[in-house]
Amino acid sequence: MTKTALITGASRGLGLALARSLAADGWRLILTARGADALESAAGGLGADTVAGDVADPAHRGRLARAVQGRGGLDLLVNNASGLGAVPLPPLAGYPLDTLEELFRSNVLAPLALIQAVLPGLRERRGAIVNISSDAAVEAYEGWGGYGATKAALERISHVLAVEEPSVAVWWVDPGELTSSPA
Ligand SMILES: NC(=O)c1ccc[n+]([C@@H]2O[C@H](COP(=O)([O-])OP(=O)(O)OC[C@H]3O[C@@H](n4cnc5c(N)ncnc54)[C@H](OP(=O)(O)O)[C@@H]3O)[C@@H](O)[C@H]2O)c1
Repeated sequence: MTKTALITGASRGLGLALARSLAADGWRLILTARGADALESAAGGLGADTVAGDVADPAHRGRLARAVQGRGGLDLLVNNASGLGAVPLPPLAGYPLDTLEELFRSNVLAPLALIQAVLPGLRERRGAIVNISSDAAVEAYEGWGGYGATKAALERISHVLAVEEPSVAVWWVDPGELTSSPA
């Protein structure tokens, strides 16, 4: 049976590379990113469904959940979309808290909300979740405290979810330094 994956942040970088790899292995894909044109152009040739929007927006997450239902369920959710926060990266002493709050919405709450939305179907199909993290979750790099705190939270969510949901495979991955986007 054809398997279905939902990948967030799939218009470039790691998300697009994963989409291409899964498409080559015969997966059906639902892809999302905010920029509709870049998403369409990235998805061209992959036969993917595209749903453009911001994962931090509950209405957009509702559209993604409906797209999953429309495809009859899900086998894999990849929470890859992520923001960096304030740039240039400020020390925590002066980190703008409104920016940090937004960052937690996109990097932590959005992935968890998507997990919650698709979890019943993933349980039924004994599916999988991949949450993309960073070494900033565990290393104390100056300036990376805001972003790193969101990735540390995502990793903690992943650890606990893996214990709470034995019928779903839960992975969290630091992809290492990504030096170039696939053409
Ligand atoms: N780059 C690195 O060296 C590195 C190192 C460690 C970990 N990581 C992690 O690896 C993952 C991929 O990184 P990358 O460098 O491949 O990223 P990237 O090239 O910047 O691509 C990010 C993707 O996510 C989308 N996106 C960002 N915010 C979004 C939002 N709120 N809602 C929906 N889509 C959103 C972007 O499209 P739009 O802008 O159009 O929305 C784009 O498709 C991230 O989780 C990142 O934290 C990266």
